[in-house]
Amino acid sequence: MTLPGAPHLARSGVELRLDGHPLAALAREHGTPLYVYSRAAMQESAAAYHRALQGRPHLVCYAMKANSSLAVLQTFVEAGCGFDIVSGGELERALAAGAAPDRIVFSGVGKTAAEMAQALRTGVRCFNVESRAELERLSQVAQGVGIRACISLRVNPDVDAGTHPYISTGLKGNKFGVAHGDAVAVYRRAAELPMIDVAGIDCHIGSQITQIAPYLDALDRVLDLVEAVEAAGIPLHHLDLGGGLGITYTDETPPRPDEMVTAMLGRIDARGHGHREILLEPGRSMVGNAGVLLTEVLYLKPGEGAGSKNFCIVDAAMNDLVRPAMYQAWMGIEPCVQRSEVPVTWDVVGPICESGDWLGRERPLAVHAGDVLAVLSAGAYSMAMAGNYNSRPRGAEVLIDGRDVHVIRERESVRSLFANERLLPRKA
Ligand code: LLP
Repeated sequence: MTLPGAPHLARSGVELRLDGHPLAALAREHGTPLYVYSRAAMQESAAAYHRALQGRPHLVCYAMKANSSLAVLQTFVEAGCGFDIVSGGELERALAAGAAPDRIVFSGVGKTAAEMAQALRTGVRCFNVESRAELERLSQVAQGVGIRACISLRVNPDVDAGTHPYISTGLKGNKFGVAHGDAVAVYRRAAELPMIDVAGIDCHIGSQITQIAPYLDALDRVLDLVEAVEAAGIPLHHLDLGGGLGITYTDETPPRPDEMVTAMLGRIDARGHGHREILLEPGRSMVGNAGVLLTEVLYLKPGEGAGSKNFCIVDAAMNDLVRPAMYQAWMGIEPCVQRSEVPVTWDVVGPICESGDWLGRERPLAVHAGDVLAVLSAGAYSMAMAGNYNSRPRGAEVLIDGRDVHVIRERESVRSLFANERLLPRKA
C-alpha cells in the first residue's frame, strides 16, 4: 500500500519502506534524526517536468533552496536540470555538485555586489532582477568586472496564489519583484545600460500552490507585459514561470507537474508566444515527497485529567524540521513499524525548550518509547532549513538509489558547532 502523494513510500505488512528499504532498519543503522531520500522519486519528478516541455527549448532550474545537499543537486545535474539560486553560497554548492554555470539563474531581492561579481565571473546564465535599485547596482558591478550581465525582471503580477501568507510572493504587499505598472519603465532603463543584456521575464507567485488558476492569471499578466515591453522595442527571449507547485501533505490534490505545465503552454501558445524558451524554478515538487525524517520516540507523557494533552516526545525537533513551528504546517507522521494496538491521540513534540517545538498535533498513533516514527514529505524545506538551536547537531542524510543506500551527509558533531568560536583571553 503506497501513501498519498508519495508513490515510493509503502507499507508492506507492518513495515514502512522507501523504495523497498525498511525505514526502521535504516534508523537502527544510521541513528536518528535521519533524513532518508529516494533518488528515483527525484528523478521521476525531474522527468515529469522535462516530458511536459519536450520539443520546445526549455530549462528546468531546480530551486535548490528546497534541498541543497550536494548529492541531491548532483542527482538533478544528471537529470538534465539547471538551478535557481538565491545566494553566493548556493552558487558554490551548485558548482561543487557539477552544475554548469550557464544553466544557473540567480534570484533573490537582496543580492550583494560581491555575489553579483562572483556570479558574473562564474558565468551564470541570468540574473532575475527584483528592483530598479538592484538593476543599477548590477550595472555598476558588471562595468567594474568588465563582464556583461544577462537579466530578466522578476515582475510581481499582483495575483493571489491562495497559499500561506509567509510563502505567498506575488501580491502587491510582498517584497518580491518589480510592480507590474513599473516594469516597462524598468525594462527601458535596462535597455539603456551599457553592460546589461535583457534576456527575458520572470515571475514566481508563491509556494505550495495547489491550483492551476493562479498560474494562468499570473501568466496572462506576464504575457501582457511581454507584449508591452516588445512594443517598446525591447525583445524578450525567455519566459521564466517560476516554481511553487504544491505537493500532497494530507488531502491536497495539486495538479501533476505535467498537467500544470501543459495548461501553461496551452495559454502561451494560444497567445502566440510559443516560440519562446521556457524556464521553470520548481523546488518542493521536485523533492518534497521524495524524503522522510526518521525520529525515535524518547518518552511518552500521557496527560493527567480532563482537557490535558498526551505528549509523545521524540528526538527530532524544530531545529531539524521547522515547518510545523513556522507555518503551522501539517506533515504526516507514521510509525515505521505498525503496532496492532488501539491508537491514542498524541502531540508529537521535540526536546527543545519552546512550546512551539512540535512536529504534529493530535495524531492518533499506537506508539511506545523506542519506536521510530517517520515524518512524511520531508524532502523539501526540512534539512535545508535545519539549524543548531539548543546546540543540537544536525542529523545525517541518506539517499536510496535502487538497492544501494548512500550516506550523503554525516551527522554533525557537537565540536563542529563551536569550532569557529573563540573564548575571551584569560585574565592574567
Ligand atoms: N523561485 C523562487 C524565486 C522562489 O522564491 C521559490 C521559493 C521557488 C522558486 C521554489 O518554490 P517551490 O517550487 O519550492 O514552491 N520554506 C517554505 C517555502 C518557501 C518558498 C520560498 N521560495 C516552506 O517550507 O513551505
